[in-house]
Amino acid sequence: EAIEKGGYEHFMLKEIFEQPKSIADCMRGRLNASTGHLVLGGIREYANKLEGAERIIMIACGTSWHAALVAEYIFEELCRIPVEVEYASEFRYRNPVINEGDVVVAISQSGETADTLAAMELAKSKGAIIFGVCNVVGSSIARVSHEGAYTHAGPEIGVASTKAFTAQLTVLTMIALRVAHRKGSITERKYHELLVELEQIPSKVEESLKLNDKVVEISDIFKEARNFLYLGRGYNFPVALEGALKLKEISYIHAEGYPAAEMKHGPIALIDEEMPVVFIATRDSSYDKIVSNIQEVKARKGRVIAIVTKGDVLIPKMADFVIEVPAAHEALMPMVAVIPLQLLSYHIAVMRGCNVDQPRNLAKSVTVE
Ligand code: AGP
Repeated sequence: EAIEKGGYEHFMLKEIFEQPKSIADCMRGRLNASTGHLVLGGIREYANKLEGAERIIMIACGTSWHAALVAEYIFEELCRIPVEVEYASEFRYRNPVINEGDVVVAISQSGETADTLAAMELAKSKGAIIFGVCNVVGSSIARVSHEGAYTHAGPEIGVASTKAFTAQLTVLTMIALRVAHRKGSITERKYHELLVELEQIPSKVEESLKLNDKVVEISDIFKEARNFLYLGRGYNFPVALEGALKLKEISYIHAEGYPAAEMKHGPIALIDEEMPVVFIATRDSSYDKIVSNIQEVKARKGRVIAIVTKGDVLIPKMADFVIEVPAAHEALMPMVAVIPLQLLSYHIAVMRGCNVDQPRNLAKSVTVE
């Protein structure tokens, strides 16, 4: 086992650090920004169904559901196709409206999640075309899909999903770019710009991993906290959900992820000097709004840990702690901004003596309802 961990103390840490490579592996042979090449070999015969879709339904659970939420923003922005993101477990039990030819994208690391599989089968029985995005080759979900794309992240052993998440985002972004390009819903210029940006993600993730020591220091300060709030807007809202899920599942600290603007509709009541609030506040189209949200938390004495874009001069004046990640296009920022959150949950859990790779009550793949 020590050999399999490759010198790391836990599989989770190894998998976090593998991300520059796993994201690059996911793009290998599929994307070449200098030639404009973008081909997903697993999506051919039904590619026109995606392009012609009137709506896309994405189904998943847990972290894969968070990847679907990011993809919703990306598909709607680039492809101008409405996307509905569904928890597989809710979708399958509520008699959903599915029409012949509807497009469903099912996302799963393991490819064996019972609820996701059952939701796909239900949609398929009603005539939907199913695209699978999964990590395990030959898994049940891959077999039930009409077509799909593998994430090629390599085996993920830690129960907390890390590299599978960033690989899912990579694949979903490539699918969206391909659809948008073929549909003509984005300009040639934007298409090329995003290909270049996507190709640069592995090196930006590499840079974010250098923040590890800083995250260790912050983890040490907050390791005894009983609650955490994670807030983000736009593309970073699902990142807030993912940061909170990572912390709960491995450190057993209660954490909630929220869209920052929803704070005023309830969670703001929780804020006092005891409450650490993690803001994912990178430079994007909702930057000014999130700055106001940070001010609101500081006015109530909350302790702010902010993930910001390198070079930000405003937020460091307000936040108690800042973690600077490299700049990236806002649609791709989740892959970069999630890295310090994965590290934060990991270090806090280790400091609390938790079993990081096999947290209590959880299984790597949930094959029961
Ligand atoms: C993630 O850290 C979790 N352990 C869990 O939420 C997981 O993402 C979920 O069970 C879905 O699994 P899947 O991607 O294999 O379908």
